[in-house]
Amino acid sequence: MNGDITRSQEWAALGKHHEELADRHLRELFAQDPGRAGRMTVTAGDLYLDYAKHRATEETIDLLVALAERAGLRDRIARMFGGEHINVSEDRAVLHVALRMSRDARLVVDGQDVVADVHTVLDEMSAFAGRVRSKEWKGATGKPIETVVNIGIGGSDLGPAMAYEALRDYADAGITARFVSNIDPADITGNLAGLDPATTLFVVSSKTFTTLETLTNARVARRWLVDALGDEAVSKHFVAVSTNAEKVAAFGIDTDNMFGFWDWVGGRYSFDGAIGLSLMIAIGPERFREMLAGFHAMDQHFRTAPFKANMPVLMGLLGVWYNDFFGAETRAVLPYSQRLHRFPAYLQQLTMESNGKSVRADGSPVTTATGEIFWGEPGTNGQHAFYQLLHQGTRLVPADFIGFAEPFEDREGMHDQLTANLLAQTSALAFGKTAEEIAGEGTAAEVVPHKVMPGNRPTSTILAPKLTPGTLGQLVALYEHIVFVEGTIWGVDSFDQWGVELGKKMALDLAPALVSAEPPTELPDASTEHLVRRYRELRGR
Ligand code: F6P
Repeated sequence: MNGDITRSQEWAALGKHHEELADRHLRELFAQDPGRAGRMTVTAGDLYLDYAKHRATEETIDLLVALAERAGLRDRIARMFGGEHINVSEDRAVLHVALRMSRDARLVVDGQDVVADVHTVLDEMSAFAGRVRSKEWKGATGKPIETVVNIGIGGSDLGPAMAYEALRDYADAGITARFVSNIDPADITGNLAGLDPATTLFVVSSKTFTTLETLTNARVARRWLVDALGDEAVSKHFVAVSTNAEKVAAFGIDTDNMFGFWDWVGGRYSFDGAIGLSLMIAIGPERFREMLAGFHAMDQHFRTAPFKANMPVLMGLLGVWYNDFFGAETRAVLPYSQRLHRFPAYLQQLTMESNGKSVRADGSPVTTATGEIFWGEPGTNGQHAFYQLLHQGTRLVPADFIGFAEPFEDREGMHDQLTANLLAQTSALAFGKTAEEIAGEGTAAEVVPHKVMPGNRPTSTILAPKLTPGTLGQLVALYEHIVFVEGTIWGVDSFDQWGVELGKKMALDLAPALVSAEPPTELPDASTEHLVRRYRELRGR
């Protein structure tokens, strides 16, 4: 809808419903309707979602779905898949979904069949990855590649880094990947340590090829390589992934060794395209395509399933429910899989760079909270760190628990223990333990209040058979579409990121003041000036 959704009758109905439901406990909801456990589930591809442990009834879901209809979600989904310029502030189509369409699909956008373009690049990537994996591609000294170092930041790092960690059990060609992102020199120093230049391939990944961190790290990497093997080695040890051929050439990378993408792919939505090259080299083109098929399966579900049986729609709407009606500020994402240890960090960019906005797409200010704060750690590590606050703290933190039935490799029944922990936590969070129950166990009266577990803490549980390329694709697409649903309700442009620009520019302006021999001048504010002086003193300048 155009305008302010918080003034709609659907929003008002949810507000009223919240007043009725806010004080009801999940214990009560389950006691009154034990069948909700069987009903409040949905399957999409290999993913099974249990959303029964939410502070919601079927009426809540009906009201939320009505809100989605009012917000024009159905039409907006069609507009995204149709290639319309729904990224209004940058006047661009939003077509990460085209990155995983099948070869026989056709989607003409701005006069160009984007699916054909996607498959041309995928074929180029596959051919290159195949040559590296088969050792046909040799470094300058004739040795095959053993390590791929992706240099990128934000969407040009977090996606491939997360997915490589998730799928490293599938890296079967003896090639490992490393990821350098930070302009902190410790990052590249640490990642180059122990590497042999003769067997190292750098993939410089940057949509714009103007990003300070990436270009600086790439220069350091080139110096490291050239010092060992000479200038002529660069073409055998550097490839680029970018939308900007001119800048790639200016940097000194042969554009024959460049893999392209397009301005209709946002950085944080890009690792299923050329930005995933390092991942593809490690796990192979076939596994990569299985991952794309997983993404596509979730896209199809999102596009076609009725809203009440649509996993991203339900999870996005529940996000709005807690964020805007319960005042929850954050959502924890808790994968019970060590392999997904970078998943929360990846989601932070995906969700917060997308929906951390305070004006709507039409430029008017929003009138409700937007942009849930995503955070998390894998279980069971989180249990021994911050779960105390989840269980007994004063804040409401809805959480997504993610688990897999089968491990890649088990040891002494550890995987069942891991799953038992996931299930125990969601149950404890939902149902807690009352003072009477605790006193009944013989606990001293003065200790009882400390042991009370209030419960009524909502969770989603996502279960999949196994962490495979396919299920990872489904999982990532699920969250991409959750972002889309929430962004549509809030009316924001989920595909721009203007908020990151000012700080980048100011850092460039500030840098000379840190190294100059002159007294600092023209600093933006008095506090910054004091800090610059202090830094210079500490550095003896
Ligand atoms: O600063 C934010 C950002 O623009 C992200 O959106 C993007 O993923 C990242 O920087 C890296 O950009 P690039 O791929 O152009 O180097």
